[in-house]
Amino acid sequence: MEAIPTERLPAHVAIIMDGNGRWAEARGLDRSAGHEAGEQALFDVVEGALEAGLGYLSVYAFSTENWARPQSEVEFLLGFNRKLLRERRDYMVERGVRIRRIGRRYPVPDDVLEEFDAAEAATASNGTLFLQVCFNYGGRAELEDAAKAGSIPDNLYAPDAPDVDLLIRTSGEKRLSNFLLWQSAYAELYFTEKLWPDFKRDALFEALRDYARRRRRFGGL
Ligand code: IPE
Ligand code: IPE
Ligand code: MG
Repeated sequence: MEAIPTERLPAHVAIIMDGNGRWAEARGLDRSAGHEAGEQALFDVVEGALEAGLGYLSVYAFSTENWARPQSEVEFLLGFNRKLLRERRDYMVERGVRIRRIGRRYPVPDDVLEEFDAAEAATASNGTLFLQVCFNYGGRAELEDAAKAGSIPDNLYAPDAPDVDLLIRTSGEKRLSNFLLWQSAYAELYFTEKLWPDFKRDALFEALRDYARRRRRFGGL
């Protein structure tokens, strides 16, 4: 990628990784094959994020609404994420990626939470890129939890993370689906028709170049 000057890079990129099911269905495959292909896309994008020099990448892996899917898909996604965290842990340690789970613990099964906790512990001294995996995450749940605890900004799940500068959603859908509502208040939105398994690092670079050309105003002039 032609380097984007640091001051034109978003401090925090958030991605709604959508379209795995449609990617699989278009190939006559099981939806689970789409999630598996989505894993390859995610780690290519992580490499791209490292190459570009991003500090924070938040990815929507499972929403508080996704429990409404058929039990077989929910079970697949739980096991799949657990396996992914274990298999990719050494890679993340080596690459300086710091993992952080963002979301409510309940009712995520213990064996999945343990894998998140292990990945967080193993990568705790890393600092190149924060990879925030939003799992059983809902923006409304986060705001309810924060409001109960007191001041909202101090009680978000990751209060130290900067606001989202660039929010990407794949698969042509143009909605937030309850993602990072507080943090994205002034985010630049980027929608692409690409389905998530087809979104690789070059697609990230294209989004970053698009972002670098935008003029943000934050209500001012
Ligand atoms: C995104 O892909 C992954 C998750 C929500 C876990 P989908 O599974 O939503 O794929 P589509 O939207 O049905 O194509
Ligand atoms: C958002 O995608 C959640 C994740 C990507 C994990 P969905 O596919 O669940 O969102 P809707 O249902 O189309 O709004
Ligand atoms: Mg979807």
